[in-house]
Amino acid sequence: MTRRNFIESTGATYATLLAWGLLKPAPAEAFNLPANGSKDGKARKVVVLGAGLAGLTTAYELGKLGYDCTVLEARSRSGGRVWTVRGGTKETEVGGPEQVCKFAAGQYFNGGAARIPHNHQLTLHYCRELGVPLEIFNGGNESAWLYNEGGTGTLANKRMRIREYHSDLRGYTSELLAKALDQSSLDQQLTKEDVEKLVDFLKNEGDLNTGKLYKGTNRRGYKNPPGAGAIPGDLTDPYGLTDYLRSGYMQPVFYNNGDYTFEQHSTLLQPVGGMDAIPKALEKKLVGKIQFNAPVKELRKTENGVRVVYQKDGKSAELTAEFCVCTLPLPVLKKIDSDLSPIVKRAADFIPYMKTGKIGLQFKRRFWEEDDAIYGGISRTNMDINQIWYPSFGLMGQKGVLIGYYNFYSRAEAVGDLTLAAREKMALEQGYKIHPQYPQEFENSFSLAWQRIPYNEGGWAVYDDTVRRKYYPALLEPDGNIYFAGEHTTYLTAWMAGAFTSARRVVDALHARVGEYTKK
Ligand code: ALA
Repeated sequence: MTRRNFIESTGATYATLLAWGLLKPAPAEAFNLPANGSKDGKARKVVVLGAGLAGLTTAYELGKLGYDCTVLEARSRSGGRVWTVRGGTKETEVGGPEQVCKFAAGQYFNGGAARIPHNHQLTLHYCRELGVPLEIFNGGNESAWLYNEGGTGTLANKRMRIREYHSDLRGYTSELLAKALDQSSLDQQLTKEDVEKLVDFLKNEGDLNTGKLYKGTNRRGYKNPPGAGAIPGDLTDPYGLTDYLRSGYMQPVFYNNGDYTFEQHSTLLQPVGGMDAIPKALEKKLVGKIQFNAPVKELRKTENGVRVVYQKDGKSAELTAEFCVCTLPLPVLKKIDSDLSPIVKRAADFIPYMKTGKIGLQFKRRFWEEDDAIYGGISRTNMDINQIWYPSFGLMGQKGVLIGYYNFYSRAEAVGDLTLAAREKMALEQGYKIHPQYPQEFENSFSLAWQRIPYNEGGWAVYDDTVRRKYYPALLEPDGNIYFAGEHTTYLTAWMAGAFTSARRVVDALHARVGEYTKK
């Protein structure tokens, strides 16, 4: 009997085959280092600063190897920037009032990390290992809207479906290229046969007619959809190329960046019930190891390791350990009294962080689904709100929460500086131009500006070539017995995969070093 026959005859499931060792596990594998995290029969002590994904994963992996980890977390919750906002969620931004979320039961939005690319194998590996169920996150949606505020042409101050924009612009650019090919302008590079193939491709790419002209197509949708009997459907008319060019629709916010970015390609995923399912699953593996409400005040190097001073129940407490893994975001680290070396302090001072914010808007009715046939996905605009995200969960339900803005840089800073009421007003007024149903259906909101959230004070590290060259290397080496982890120590900044991979990197380095000690 061949192996294939055997497998087919048993009807074994994927999981069974994996267990029998007949299938290779997924590419990102469990971390299999030899366990020797002890010295003279006692577990080596490691203090981990921060119970975000990097800190939790570090403690989880070191724990598997026999280390004794304590995680100090300033907040009363784990997860850091992996944060799901639901009814009852409270937050007080720096200089702001306490905000209490009033969403209905079952409604939420992910205030930080909100999508998992299918190509982030390590993130998916941990979801698998921790048993976190995932569902599809719909990123690209041809039915979502583009809205161009301002400009002077016929398409100024007008919303259009993404499918209209895509179809028209693919159509016109294909038509132009097909014409150029007809004029033999590329004859030097291409043979006649090459040109024929390319023109065939362009006809398909742009949905050109037999005359190789773009005259609109059902890809843009219908005025009246096809139906039974004598209803073939009425097509829409395309907008003109010059209308696009002259009305402001060539601004970068309308480019197809989302579709073309590696991390945003289909398929994207999200945990069922909120992104915080991931830190919660890690927390379950670390029972008794995390001290909450324990903000770090001092980080000291000692002869044998490290000493961390922190606040506990209003009093100063301290902890000594052989090693420290510091996952604090740099805007937070730079404010802590420490013995860190000048190059690390300089890195903490000079590596900039993204200013970014979101608002969750709860509506009585899922009008984007009922009226506009939008199920998940993202609308985009050049207004301050920048993007509107539609939930990929709870489809067809009673109520829903949209992300009413998601913005970056100076816009996010300006919006973050507004009062909570003014943020809400802005999100509603601008969103109204895309969804006139807003005033009728709105119930309540919860907004956040990451640069103003205590214990983060920024969205994620932002590197350019110079900052990467000058400051990044300092974070990659241990400073004495203090190691650094977190998305800011990777080339996967702004992604959970960065936190995960940074944790593995540090566990690997620390463990290898201990191995050398043992050998001596
Ligand atoms: N990774 C972040 C996002 O998906 C920045 O928007």
